[in-house]
Amino acid sequence: MSYRLSRDVIDLGQHLMNTRTGELYEVDECGRTLLSNLPTGENPPEGEVFDFMRTEGLLVDPSEQKDRGKFLLQLHVLNACNLKCRHCYDWKNPTVTLTYEQELTVLDNFADFLKKMEMDGEISFTGGEPLLYDHLSELIDYAKSQDVFIKPYVLTNGTVPPNTKILECLIRHQAGVQISIDGTEAIHDEIRGTGNYRKSIAGIKKFLSVGLKVSVHYVIMRRNAKAIPEFIEAMEDIGIERVNFSCLVPIGPGAQEEMLTPSENREVIENVALLQRGRSISLLSTRPLWYTVGSSGFCPVGYNTLTIDAAGQFMPCRRLPISLGDARHDTFFRVWFGSEFLQKIREREKYVQICGTCPQADVCGGCRALAYAVTGDAFAPDPSCLLACKM
Ligand SMILES: C[S@@+](CC[C@H](N)C(=O)[O-])C[C@H]1O[C@@H](n2cnc3c(N)ncnc32)[C@H](O)[C@@H]1O
Ligand code: SF4
Ligand code: SF4
Repeated sequence: MSYRLSRDVIDLGQHLMNTRTGELYEVDECGRTLLSNLPTGENPPEGEVFDFMRTEGLLVDPSEQKDRGKFLLQLHVLNACNLKCRHCYDWKNPTVTLTYEQELTVLDNFADFLKKMEMDGEISFTGGEPLLYDHLSELIDYAKSQDVFIKPYVLTNGTVPPNTKILECLIRHQAGVQISIDGTEAIHDEIRGTGNYRKSIAGIKKFLSVGLKVSVHYVIMRRNAKAIPEFIEAMEDIGIERVNFSCLVPIGPGAQEEMLTPSENREVIENVALLQRGRSISLLSTRPLWYTVGSSGFCPVGYNTLTIDAAGQFMPCRRLPISLGDARHDTFFRVWFGSEFLQKIREREKYVQICGTCPQADVCGGCRALAYAVTGDAFAPDPSCLLACKM
């Protein structure tokens, strides 16, 4: 658990001031030590001083601040990978990535943005394969050292055994781990290469064994749609609590053939909802179109997310490869408030065809990445939706 000073509180050195009540609190040596240990989250604070600060509302647990907005950054630390999955959007040649120093500046810049926006942050460190990146633990430590709450996640294929340094870092910050599994053993290996299912399962077990929360990501496509029931049983057997399903976005050669039709897509979602009944594992995705089974699927693009790809380009989402700026010299503010593309997404009634004025717009909105991949127009209706196709 990591705590931080409430945003109402100013640290005046020898005193803390609650700007809401005007009250001043003297900070003794014990209080000062407690405050200086907060940003690392290494030793969760406890004791009388801590209890007092919590009761007075000087310290807060960010997860209790339900009203605070959250901003999601997906940071691609490299596009190199040890696998070559059939469906992967990262199919282009290796790129010139940001340097480690530039990445640190990006993290400073992000923290500055969060503070001014008065939001908490989430960073998904991904790639390529992020566990191949030498500076991953330093980047996560640096993100956590910012004086704003940032929850780290690592999105990995699970086949690269984590070294002690990265494991300790993930444990220290209670990072979330997401591992990709795309079917039963035979199907997963067909998509991701022979022997990789076993390696990824071993990866899941390793992260679970040290007490980390692990979720599994499953990209639904033609060749693995029927394998879902068997896959769910396998995930339950190894103790997975959450599966995130998402739809294939056909980027790269041969990917269009793997897309489901809108009615097949609807059927898969409904079947997953049936499989959810009586199970404690969480299966309902929060992606567009899952509103049909009672989940909210509103896409955060334009509302609370940005991606930076391995080449340092700001994008609305990694599956929506439209450059919004360059992280080497553009700030989050400039991109977030200056992008005409994002502005048009926010004015969806005016610009987004069918989905923008659909009665389900607030719980769905359609997937802009799918629209772009299939039609070349991010403002087209979602091609995986039955409703949009009928109109
Ligand atoms: C690009 S990978 C990076 C992290 C790691 N290498 C992995 O495989 O999990 C992140 C996630 O994006 C998914 N993904 C890749 N290409 C996709 C596509 N065309 N459509 C939808 N998801 C895709 C992968 O299956 C994976 O779950
Ligand atoms: S492991 Fe991840 S990044 Fe690598 S090819 Fe597969 S989906 Fe792409
Ligand atoms: S038309 Fe668009 S917003 Fe409406 S349900 Fe279909 S995908 Fe969702």
